[in-house]
Amino acid sequence: MVTTTQESRSWDEVPDLAGCFGPYGGQYVPETLMNPLAELSRAYNDARRDPVFISEFDRLLRDYVGRPTPISYAERLSGTLGCHLWLKREDLCHTGAHKINNAVGQALLALRMGKRRIVAETGAGQHGVATATVCALLGIECVVYMGTEDMARQAPNVQRMRLLGATVRGVEAGSRTLKDAVNEAMRDWVTNVRTTHYLLGSVLGAHPYPMMVRDFQIVIGREARRQFLERTDSLPDLLVACVGGGSNSIGLFHAFLDDPVEMVGVEAGGRSDRPGDHASRFLGGGAAVGVLQGSRTYLLQDETGNVLPTHSVSAGLDYPAIGPEHAFLRDAGRVRYGTVRDAEALKAFQTLGRLEGILPALESAHAVAWIMREAAAFHGKNVLLNLSGRGDKDLDIVERHMPEERGA
Ligand SMILES: Cc1ncc(COP(=O)(O)O)c(C=O)c1O
Repeated sequence: MVTTTQESRSWDEVPDLAGCFGPYGGQYVPETLMNPLAELSRAYNDARRDPVFISEFDRLLRDYVGRPTPISYAERLSGTLGCHLWLKREDLCHTGAHKINNAVGQALLALRMGKRRIVAETGAGQHGVATATVCALLGIECVVYMGTEDMARQAPNVQRMRLLGATVRGVEAGSRTLKDAVNEAMRDWVTNVRTTHYLLGSVLGAHPYPMMVRDFQIVIGREARRQFLERTDSLPDLLVACVGGGSNSIGLFHAFLDDPVEMVGVEAGGRSDRPGDHASRFLGGGAAVGVLQGSRTYLLQDETGNVLPTHSVSAGLDYPAIGPEHAFLRDAGRVRYGTVRDAEALKAFQTLGRLEGILPALESAHAVAWIMREAAAFHGKNVLLNLSGRGDKDLDIVERHMPEERGA
């Protein structure tokens, strides 16, 4: 059922001044991080109202990132599904994914705060590449932390970051994936906070990050809403996007929250529902509310509160917590969430390539797989799907899992 806001709620009321989205979000951090977060909040609140900052952000999105990205009608796939499928083409952004929208915004903010060094975490490598790119453009030193497991599965992006002049530091701790990279980036930030900004890549972490990253990604939905109205004279019936930390999905959803439009976020269902086999923070085994890396939200944990390992074929969805605003939107019944298994995402990767000539990132392929599975319920409807990134980084993984794709 579509829930609209007309009755009572203003979605813009969150987060509150303490950075809370209802019971979620906040600032669950050690004392040493309170001052850096307060400095960042002040700087961001100042910048978001400054027309000079806004026009510089808009200029770089237009002239450097290549915005607006188009929406494409997926004609052949629509023909097989029975719904009208439109793709918001974030894969066409410079560096190949939506991550650069936020990287541009935060890098400009870092310069405004007088910080000439940026640290970042990365999982799939797209956020790391985006950060390294923007740092090269603006002449900022860049250090990217990446789990060594992710470095192995996303090797082309490691190479890219290094070629762009960034230092990539492998993280051997824990499961050697995104969560461990975030820990190391935070540690670096606390140690070097006078010179350094932590450029977090999703709507995660302590306030103001979930709000700030959302605001820098809202451009996706604003453009898509306008483009859809221009092309069809109507709004879409359904929005679909994959959810790792949740930035591309929030970026798309936000501009439509007050519209009678249904929304689905797609999490990584991995291999099975068993704890450790997936990264579904809402629907999979081990999901419960807790605190991780500064924020209260849904996360995967065992009975004693230890964070569970996660699994997904896509590094960018392989994270145990979900952005706090998603937890809020889910409780409010405004956004519904689904899961897609690895095998379904791989199949969708292949299908979109063969029918539309687009190789999606494996993250985005989760959203494609969801609509491929659920299309019967949306017969004749307009579906707008956020194609968050392109799949070049995933070719090795796809070949390994689908040997028949080796070009036989
Ligand atoms: C192409 C792509 N899509 C989606 C994601 C998931 O992140 P988010 O949920 O923040 O959009 C990633 C993360 O690395 C990504 O690279």
